[in-house]
Amino acid sequence: MKLNAAIAALAGLAAAAPSAELDRHRRTPLLAGRADWPNGPLVTSGRWVHDASGKNVTYAGANWPGAADVMIPEGLQYQSIATIVSKVKSIGMNAIRLTFAIQMVDEIYANGGKDVTLEKAFAQALGQANGAKVLAQVLAKNPNFTAATTRLQVYDAVAAELAKQQIYVHLDNHISKGMWCCSTDDGNSWWGDKYFSAANWTRGLAYMADHAKAWPGFVSIGLRNEPREPSSKGQSAAYNWQTWYEYMKQGAAAVHAANPDPLIFLSGLSFDTFLTPVVQGTALSPGSGKFSFGDFAGYANKLVLEIHNYDNSATSCSSLQNNLYRNGFQALTASAVNVFPVMMTEFGFQMDATTWKGVYASCLAAYLPAQKAGWTIWVLAGSYYMRSGRQDYDENWGLLNHDWSAWRSPSYIDGALTAMVKNTLS
Ligand SMILES: *[C@@H]1O[C@H](CO)[C@@H](O)[C@H](O)[C@H]1NC(C)=O
Ligand SMILES: *[C@@H]1O[C@H](CO)[C@@H](O)[C@H](O)[C@H]1NC(C)=O
Ligand SMILES: *[C@@H]1O[C@H](CO)[C@@H](O)[C@H](O)[C@H]1NC(C)=O
Repeated sequence: MKLNAAIAALAGLAAAAPSAELDRHRRTPLLAGRADWPNGPLVTSGRWVHDASGKNVTYAGANWPGAADVMIPEGLQYQSIATIVSKVKSIGMNAIRLTFAIQMVDEIYANGGKDVTLEKAFAQALGQANGAKVLAQVLAKNPNFTAATTRLQVYDAVAAELAKQQIYVHLDNHISKGMWCCSTDDGNSWWGDKYFSAANWTRGLAYMADHAKAWPGFVSIGLRNEPREPSSKGQSAAYNWQTWYEYMKQGAAAVHAANPDPLIFLSGLSFDTFLTPVVQGTALSPGSGKFSFGDFAGYANKLVLEIHNYDNSATSCSSLQNNLYRNGFQALTASAVNVFPVMMTEFGFQMDATTWKGVYASCLAAYLPAQKAGWTIWVLAGSYYMRSGRQDYDENWGLLNHDWSAWRSPSYIDGALTAMVKNTLS
C-alpha cells in the first residue's frame, strides 16, 4: 500500500519533470527511501537477524490466531482489520505471528484448487444459523468483504494492512485440523497422528510460503507449533529427536523450494519448551546423528529457533532464566555449539490488574529485551469465533477485551508491555 502510494506520487512528479533522464535520477533515491521496509529478505548472522542492509532486526509482537475451527483470523466480527492492526501499532509492536491450519490448504486442494468462502467457513464451523449471524457481523465491520470472499483473501487483507502499518508477518503452522491447540490427545500432536499427515503438512507449508510471496511484510514462517508426544501412539512416528530432525528437514526444504526468502523457525519438543540437543550439538537420540547447518545447504542462514514458555507459577526469576538458557537461549551465546537467533514465540498470562507484576511476567519482561531476543506474546485475541466447542469464547489471556475494542489490562500495557516492546527494539 505504502509503496503503491509512493509510486503514484512519483508518477505525479514524473509528469512535471522536464526529462525522463531527470525523472530516473529522482526516482532511484526516493524509491529507495520508501522501499526500506521490510528491506528483506531477512537472513541470520550468528545469533542476529539482519535485513538486506545488515541492520539487526528482531520481533516484539503478538499472536493473532487464525487456526481454529473457522480457519480465518479471529476478531473480525467485532472490529475492522485496520482497527485491530492500529491497536498493535499503537504500542510500537513490529510483528504478528499469524497462525494457520493445514486443513485450510487441504480444503483448497480437495475443492479443485478453489478456496472456501466465508459463508461456507462460518457455516461449517458454527452451524448454519450462528454462522450466518457471525458472517453478517464480519461484513458489517469489514465492508470490503462479501459472503463470497475466501479465507485466504482474508489473510491477504490482514497481511496488506500489516504491511501498510509496517508490521512484519510471521506465518505459523499452528495445527493440522483447524481447532484449539494443543494437547497430547488432539490428533495433531506428532507426525502421523490422526490429523497430522506429513505429506499434507509439507504441501500446506509450501502452499502458504508460495502464497505469501505477494505479502510485502511476510518475512518468516514457523514449521510447526509445539511438537508433543501423542497420548496414544496410533500411527504416529516414534516421538524422539531423530524423528523430529527428519521432519524438520523436510518442512524446511518444502518452504525453501516454494519461497527462498522467509526465515524458517524450528520449534522444539515437549510443546516447544526445549531445543537443547540442537543447541549443544549432541546426538539426536535414539540415533547418533547431530544437527548440522550443512543439512540446510543454501539456506542455513534462514534458521531461527523458537521456544515457548508457560512457567507461570515460577517463584524465582533466576531459576526461570537458567531454565531458558538451558532449554535453548544458550544458542544466543558463543558457548553454543550451534549458534542461532532465538525467539520466544509464545508466553502469556491472565490479563488482569496484578498478574503482570508477578515473577513470571516481570522476569520475561526484563529477560527477553536484555537478550535482544524476539518474542510474540500469546495472545492478541480478546475472544474466539469458537474454542473447544464453545462459540464466542472469552479469552482472559487476551491483550484485547472481548469485543477487541480496548486493552483488557490497561495497567499491563502502560506499566510493562509498552516498555518491553521499546526495550526490545531499541
Ligand atoms: C547487531 O548485530 C551485530 C552483529 O551483526 C552485533 O555485533 C551488534 O551488537 C548488534 N547491535 C545491537 C544494537 O544489538
Ligand atoms: C478496503 O477498501 C478500501 C476502499 O476501497 C481500501 O482503501 C482498503 O485498502 C481496503 N482494505 C482492505 C483490507 O482490503
Ligand atoms: C490430506 O488432504 C486431503 C485433501 O487433499 C484430505 O482428504 C485428507 O483428509 C488430508 N489428510 C489428513 C490426515 O487430514
